[in-house]
Amino acid sequence: MYSYSHRNILDTLQFSKEDLDFLIGKTRIMHDLHESGKAFGILKGKLLASLFFEASTRTRLSFEAAMERLGGRLVSTVGFQFSSISKGETLYDTMKMIEAYADIAVIRHPVEGSSRIAAGAVSIPVINAGDGAGQHPTQALLDLYTIISEKGSFEDLSIAFIGDLKYGRTIHSLINLLRHYKVHLYLISPEELRLPESYKKNINGFPMTWEETTDIKAVWDSDVAYVTRIQEERFPDHKEYEKLKDIYKVNKELVLASKKNTTILHPLPRVNELSTDVDDLPNAAYFRQAKYGVVVRMALLCLSLGVEFGGKEDAHG
Ligand code: NCD
Repeated sequence: MYSYSHRNILDTLQFSKEDLDFLIGKTRIMHDLHESGKAFGILKGKLLASLFFEASTRTRLSFEAAMERLGGRLVSTVGFQFSSISKGETLYDTMKMIEAYADIAVIRHPVEGSSRIAAGAVSIPVINAGDGAGQHPTQALLDLYTIISEKGSFEDLSIAFIGDLKYGRTIHSLINLLRHYKVHLYLISPEELRLPESYKKNINGFPMTWEETTDIKAVWDSDVAYVTRIQEERFPDHKEYEKLKDIYKVNKELVLASKKNTTILHPLPRVNELSTDVDDLPNAAYFRQAKYGVVVRMALLCLSLGVEFGGKEDAHG
């Protein structure tokens, strides 16, 4: 019999197809509980440490809103300059302290693999909220929940990824989840920003198929288009960023010319790659996507803490 066994959420590779089915089901239950006002109090008495050592608006506020909506409480630190890491403290020592204060920790950090180090230091659950150009697993889970909620099924969907496939951790994370479904990907990027080989290895041999192109018109054949920002802060050479920053722009004209009534997603923040003239189209799902994020994180916080909701299933089997 299936049992969900993930206390830590560090990398999207940790999830099987069964885990994803389970998580989508649990998120739907949480969504209903939240909308009917029955979620508040589920995490009463629990404390979340919200550790954001790299810029964030949505992810931090979404986790914090999720915890508050469940009746839990927070302790938080934002940026290195206000934490003892700026005095030379190691992440290991910081985490040892956090373990003494909180029941669960969410961490965003600029170094790839840092959340794994953080999780290795403590016995409380740790959730990766973005580690450099590496992984952003809860964003991927909310993206997955957005696609199923907006489209009804994954079966035979074609999904375009547009922009910075090299450095975009939200893309790296989401394709690891989509590999379990019979979907087709159009990977749209300039040659310089193609998906790294290490990620291609993870997606080969699964039901998902994919092709690479530099042509933004592949959006016209896509049911979903996932637009991303060129990740300025990850470029070793800023001149290269300047050259590529405005390479694609998804605007109303492009969306309206689609053959497929394309749903537009974006993890946000946007810079120039997604025009505001798309916002008033029914296709624009990116603000709904941010809203789905809260219920996804509400479900994940409960599951990681082993707190049951909306049914008898034991979160840890
Ligand atoms: C993304 C991130 O931080 O990776 N934003 C987010 O979490 N919603 C995308 C980005 O910064 O471009």
